[in-house]
Amino acid sequence: MRPPRETDPGGFALRSDGEIRIAPSILSADFAALGRDVAAVERGGADLIHVDVMDGQFVPNLTIGPAVVRALKRIAGRPLDVHLMIAEPDRYVEAFVGAGAGMVSVHVEAVPHLHRTIHLIKQLGVKAGAVLNPSTPAGALEDIAADLDFVLVMSVNPGFGGQAFIPHSLDKLRRVRDVLDRAGSSAPIEIDGGIDATNAAAVVAAGASILVAGHAIFGGSDPEAATRLLRDAALGAATRA
Ligand code: DX5
Ligand code: ZN
Repeated sequence: MRPPRETDPGGFALRSDGEIRIAPSILSADFAALGRDVAAVERGGADLIHVDVMDGQFVPNLTIGPAVVRALKRIAGRPLDVHLMIAEPDRYVEAFVGAGAGMVSVHVEAVPHLHRTIHLIKQLGVKAGAVLNPSTPAGALEDIAADLDFVLVMSVNPGFGGQAFIPHSLDKLRRVRDVLDRAGSSAPIEIDGGIDATNAAAVVAAGASILVAGHAIFGGSDPEAATRLLRDAALGAATRA
């Protein structure tokens, strides 16, 4: 068996080592001041910058393309975590990696040949993740689990920020962790949708270690403090565990 990669060409490790990573989603940031907002969350301790790409087809919303990712890459001091909520992601993966993505995730529901798509991403030298919508069972990952660098569990239906966390996602996290463990994978699990300081402890206890948050971080007036608050809430769970 190949040993887990410690670092990628971008130089960051991504393993299920118990380390909590906070990934602010710029979907709820001020698009006219992305540089300011990214700098604020980085001062607050953000580990990743989560970028939601939507095409108006796979999800009913339109957001960001490679040009914005390229601009973010110039100003971000953290890896860009690009979440593709688009149909036919194979057509665009190379453009997003070329623009500076350090992690690329694709929806299981959007691709007919997930194995091919995951390996396409990995061959480009970045972390490859598979995303599960709330209604997609954890078992959908059984035959690809060993190939994944990370899994993203959606805790809302994708398309919009500011939605309520779906409580069933806690069971889902435990089942995804079980699928990964049975495949001998230490890949971390990312959780995305409705995450805030009130549920951070619960999602970490259920197996998530990368926490995406949009509204909870950018919805108020102090994204730096909100990032710190979310980390503290998540770490509280980690130290109790
Ligand atoms: C939803 C996106 C999320 C979104 C999360 O489709 O994938 O990343 O930005 O936003 P909140 O934290 O506001 O639910
Ligand atoms: Zn997302």
